[in-house]
Amino acid sequence: MTDRVKDKATIVTGAGSIGPGWGNGKAAAVVYAREGALVAAVDRTLSAAEETRDIITGEGGQCIAVEADVTVEDQVQHVVDRCLSEFGRVDILHNNVGIPVVGGTQEISADDWDQQFSVNVKSMYLTCRTCLPQMVEQGSGAIVNISSIASIRAIGYPCISYAATKGAVNQLTQQIAMEYAAAGIRANCILPGLMHTPQIEHYVTSGYGGDKEEMIRKRHDLVPMKRMGTAWDVAYAALFLASDEAQYVTGTQLVVDGGITCK
Ligand SMILES: NC(=O)c1ccc[n+]([C@@H]2O[C@H](COP(=O)([O-])OP(=O)(O)OC[C@H]3O[C@@H](n4cnc5c(N)ncnc54)[C@H](O)[C@@H]3O)[C@@H](O)[C@H]2O)c1
Repeated sequence: MTDRVKDKATIVTGAGSIGPGWGNGKAAAVVYAREGALVAAVDRTLSAAEETRDIITGEGGQCIAVEADVTVEDQVQHVVDRCLSEFGRVDILHNNVGIPVVGGTQEISADDWDQQFSVNVKSMYLTCRTCLPQMVEQGSGAIVNISSIASIRAIGYPCISYAATKGAVNQLTQQIAMEYAAAGIRANCILPGLMHTPQIEHYVTSGYGGDKEEMIRKRHDLVPMKRMGTAWDVAYAALFLASDEAQYVTGTQLVVDGGITCK
């Protein structure tokens, strides 16, 4: 299939990657562009957004890089303004930004808690709130929010604030889906399982005693398919939810986890 999101103006937050390789946001931005979307690649690190933009334009796609911290209201407004001035519409909002903090109830701090809710939940509320009036005016729009299976299951190590934020993402998404269904706007979540992205090497080792190789081995082993997923698995699920092929799908939680949650 080609052109599944042709000419759709698409905002991807966290479209860079925290390290070398493919993060979920970077892969999503590239997949949308390969299917014809006009992409605004948003990242608080401009060079990360520019790297994604250069990959897309290098393949002949259309993309602008926008520097913004999506936890800050006026920076989110700037993102939407840039998308409108470049592309004239906002058709797809893909909320990828989210950070994990490993730790149980007594281990994390109140500051960790607040930061997680700000980055993982408030950012999505702000981007949705800012894009929705434009989508209502257009009479259409699709929102894809990246949650996690941690929102519905224990995932093998303690991450109390992360799990709580992702549960909140699911409900935020469902509330928006209901509030805007009659306006022609859909909102869905993706719940990735254990994915092999730069993010996990950066943040998650402490949950496994700090040993990176041991963490990677255990994460592969926890999956019924015996391997972690990749950023592309999340990106292709997002492409479906964002495209018109999913025109009757809203308020859902699409699990992409190699079978973990069946266990
Ligand atoms: N890797 C996994 O196993 C896994 C599993 C489940 C869910 N997820 C989810 O996937 C998403 C992360 O995907 P990724 O691999 O692309 O992450 P990543 O850590 O590589 O981050 C992508 C980009 O987000 C940017 N970013 C961080 N905070 C920002 C902010 N406040 N404003 C703007 N940009 C910001 C970073 O600079 C980075 O370039 C998160 O929502 C995470 O919870 C990941």
